[in-house]
Amino acid sequence: MKLSASMMCANYLSLGQDLEALENSKIDYLHIDVMDGDFVPNFQLGTDYVKAIRKAVNTPIDIHLMVNHPENHIGSFDLQPGDIMSIHQETTKHLQRTLCLIKERGAIASVAINPATPINAFDYILDDIGIVLLMTVNPGFAGQKLVPQTIQKISDTRKYLDDKGYSNIIIEVDGNCSFENVPLMSKAGAEIFVLGTSSIFNRNYTIPEAVEKLRLDKISPEIIL
Ligand code: DX5
Ligand code: ZN
Repeated sequence: MKLSASMMCANYLSLGQDLEALENSKIDYLHIDVMDGDFVPNFQLGTDYVKAIRKAVNTPIDIHLMVNHPENHIGSFDLQPGDIMSIHQETTKHLQRTLCLIKERGAIASVAINPATPINAFDYILDDIGIVLLMTVNPGFAGQKLVPQTIQKISDTRKYLDDKGYSNIIIEVDGNCSFENVPLMSKAGAEIFVLGTSSIFNRNYTIPEAVEKLRLDKISPEIIL
């Protein structure tokens, strides 16, 4: 189980403290949502934000490009070995070539798909990726509720990958990864969880408390929709 903190949900007015708490909690990744207001109806996090985070912590960065024509923007980001960069299959006509651009920068290439996009979108690029990112909410905003059928989609994806001989490809999930949903998502085959307002940036817990609670994984699995 790897935890990726959704930095769009951090407290912008005390970002340094949140970063320190995340690093002390040994969070595995910092998830950076980049939004262009076109592919998704919101604007978020840019290249200077990534540079600033990179200066402050050593935690690997998990960049999620929710932008059209991502092939035009790969070079704008300070990618390091060990980072992840996800691009949406729905956003480019040149998926395979763009994945190669990510790998050339030493990062783990990942393809993201929206809740309604079929998993056969991954056909013909399985040799080019290390991770698939399944959106479990419709992308663009924090604080949304899980799209219920995405739990089944996680297990369908795990079976699809294993049946094709790609059990090495990891499933990351993004959206409403709550204390109740994470055990179900994990049981279905997810291994990296993007954590936002539903868990680690939840007002009822400090970041260390929420990370501890998730890692204990002692929460009774029930989906709250
Ligand atoms: C969805 C965002 C995610 C996530 C935020 O577009 O990209 O980062 O949903 O976390 P929650 O869903 O827990 O607020
Ligand atoms: Zn994301």
